[in-house]
Amino acid sequence: MDNNNYAHVAVKGNEAPKPTANVGEHIDTDKIKEDFPILSRDQNGERIYYLDSASSSQKPIQVIQAMGNYYASTHANVHRGVYTIAEEATRLYENARIAAGRLIGAAHPEREIVFTKNVTEAINLVAYTWGRANLSRGDVVLLSEIEHHANFVPWLMLAEEKGVELRYIPMDKTYNLDLSNLVQLSAGAKLIAVTAASNVLGSITDISKISDVAKQVGARLLVDGAQFVPHRLTDVKSIDADFYGYTGHKLLGPTGIGILYAKQELLEEMPPFLGGGEMIADVRLDGFSTTDIPWKFEAGTPPIAEAIGLHAAIDYLEQVGLDKIAAHEKSLTVYAIGALTDHFGKDITIFGPEPSDSKDRAGVVSFKFADIHPHDVAQVLNEYNVCVRAGHHCAKPLMRCLHVPATTRASFYLYNDEEDVNALIHALEQVKKMFG
Ligand SMILES: Cc1ncc(COP(=O)(O)O)c(C=O)c1O
Repeated sequence: MDNNNYAHVAVKGNEAPKPTANVGEHIDTDKIKEDFPILSRDQNGERIYYLDSASSSQKPIQVIQAMGNYYASTHANVHRGVYTIAEEATRLYENARIAAGRLIGAAHPEREIVFTKNVTEAINLVAYTWGRANLSRGDVVLLSEIEHHANFVPWLMLAEEKGVELRYIPMDKTYNLDLSNLVQLSAGAKLIAVTAASNVLGSITDISKISDVAKQVGARLLVDGAQFVPHRLTDVKSIDADFYGYTGHKLLGPTGIGILYAKQELLEEMPPFLGGGEMIADVRLDGFSTTDIPWKFEAGTPPIAEAIGLHAAIDYLEQVGLDKIAAHEKSLTVYAIGALTDHFGKDITIFGPEPSDSKDRAGVVSFKFADIHPHDVAQVLNEYNVCVRAGHHCAKPLMRCLHVPATTRASFYLYNDEEDVNALIHALEQVKKMFG
């Protein structure tokens, strides 16, 4: 099979298994939980309360089975073999690309979606290829103070190497990005790279406004959708994103797969990222030429089983409905913030926007609990089977803005409900007794 021509195989049937959760108007978490084997595992005679989906989500049986079925019945390397299972594997892999693009509204998923290892690699890909080809000394890249390290360090590396100037959109007192000086901050910017939702604060960025300013000043727009795509409907066309990244393991999919969306014309122009097999058209002793997009950016054997697992995860999310997931998480977040504040009053400081009807907020609740170190809090919570994250959450610049070294963070997904929040509150009461 010609390495440049897979689009035709990608449109055939969709082999990913369908979710069994029969969801109605609202999310039935009892039904959803049945699809997630890990949520009924026994830990010291009781189930676990998993409140760390912002770090990595759990996986439904449909994803686990899709990957297992692939290895049991269809595994072969993709894009190479002419035998039946190799063609089937290629079709499954390319179908996953279409699904990954469909999820975020890409106009041409077969050309505009590049599979990477995670969103960190997706952002690095842009910095290494587009960044090195298009940015030079004095050019401005505008980031924000609340980014994950994945959207800081690649640009800091470029700043060191090329003398690119980095500027930062600050956070305001409500824990949202302060866009009041955006036009001035963006002057001379060649790229604006921001997160769509904060993994620490739960604040959701007004990407449309940033996109308008990017167009006004002629800057490209990169969006880190790691915490947004799993929880909200995303449309890269309506925000006119040039680059958009997300990561499979946070949206019910496996680890080891990330997604970079980039406009076709940008991918065409960009130099390749990694070199090796799969990404070439020809190799001679004195040089090489690259193959077509998107394979030009996928050197070596790609994450085939992971792409198939990702496809099953996307099907699952679409079947449940991202609008329902967003509404469910929003009401759970309102409940959690209200209950935590009622129970612990001054002992708890929550770092994130107040839930309000007028502004969306993600299901991430970061907090300081009395003066107890977040690692101690998380360790005691674990004794009550409550899984939360403690640390700087790969957002050290933001920790400095918050004047704390670390926070404790509970984060929600479609399988969480008030029982999980109540377990958190009960376990925090024990923390208080122990350290109080
Ligand atoms: C906002 C944000 N960006 C990027 C990442 C990095 O994700 P990955 O480790 O899958 O590359 C994370 C992970 O926590 C995140 O929350």
